[in-house]
Amino acid sequence: MNHADIETLAKNWVVDAADRPANPRVQQVVVRLLGDLCKAIEDLDITPSEFWSGVAYMSAAGAANELGLLAAGLGLERFLDIRADEAERKAGLEGGTPRTIEGPLYVAGAPESVGFARLDDGLDADKGEVLFMQGTVFDQDGKPLPNAKVEVWHANLLGNYSFFDRTQSDFNLRRSIVTDAAGRYQFRSIIPVGYGCPPDGTTQQLLDQLGRHGQRPAHIHFFVSAAGHRKLTTQINIDGDEYLWDDFAFASREGLVPPIARIDDPAQLVAKRLDKPFASIDFDFHLYRETEAAPSAIVERARAAA
Ligand SMILES: [Fe+2]
Repeated sequence: MNHADIETLAKNWVVDAADRPANPRVQQVVVRLLGDLCKAIEDLDITPSEFWSGVAYMSAAGAANELGLLAAGLGLERFLDIRADEAERKAGLEGGTPRTIEGPLYVAGAPESVGFARLDDGLDADKGEVLFMQGTVFDQDGKPLPNAKVEVWHANLLGNYSFFDRTQSDFNLRRSIVTDAAGRYQFRSIIPVGYGCPPDGTTQQLLDQLGRHGQRPAHIHFFVSAAGHRKLTTQINIDGDEYLWDDFAFASREGLVPPIARIDDPAQLVAKRLDKPFASIDFDFHLYRETEAAPSAIVERARAAA
């Protein structure tokens, strides 16, 4: 079949088949995706057995709640960010902190504090490297933003996230920090490690077929928001990770790999009430003012809430 005939069929099956009011946007998207899928079946001569194997794969990925992970691993989540960057550039927004993917592991409702929070529950403090991370949230004119909200979440020393990993305490390694009068935030935590897709999961199953690993470099996730400003979704990477520029989710970006200072000065250890050296990361966030000229930076998606 040629593509024009396929497009006619897809329109028949979706638009012409409607016998009651339809959602025009859903119709438009489904006609396109259905037509594109049929063209792929035709062009690649996808067999019925291959087709049903794909249906079974998507069913299994959905049942395992791995479709969010799959979207990251196939680059689709990165693609949405590339488009969002382009839209902001067209609107004249440049020079802010780069965005990168959210991933599927945010949980709403983390404890909130002003200025400072300790993220870890202390159980891994002896095994891990203590981290202090701090900085200022700025607006696009370089003015500090008091009352901005810095939501932060990261994995533990096994690469697992609280809530999804029920062995961790509630909201371990998850907090919301409201910046102080000087626009500053700081937290204490432990340096996370990288992690991979579940080795027996559906995402890794496909990656194996594609000859790809499913590893992410160690990273820390952020949502940064402030009244009248565009919400920033981003991460920083932990410098030195072997997968730093080989992230299966394509989320590493220039500007998001801050240097790590290793502090062993006795006076500073006393000030932090620590008996061993700690790591320190300085990182400022630069937000854009809200504007009608670019699509909303707020992304609606199904998220867990504890
Ligand atoms: Fe993550």
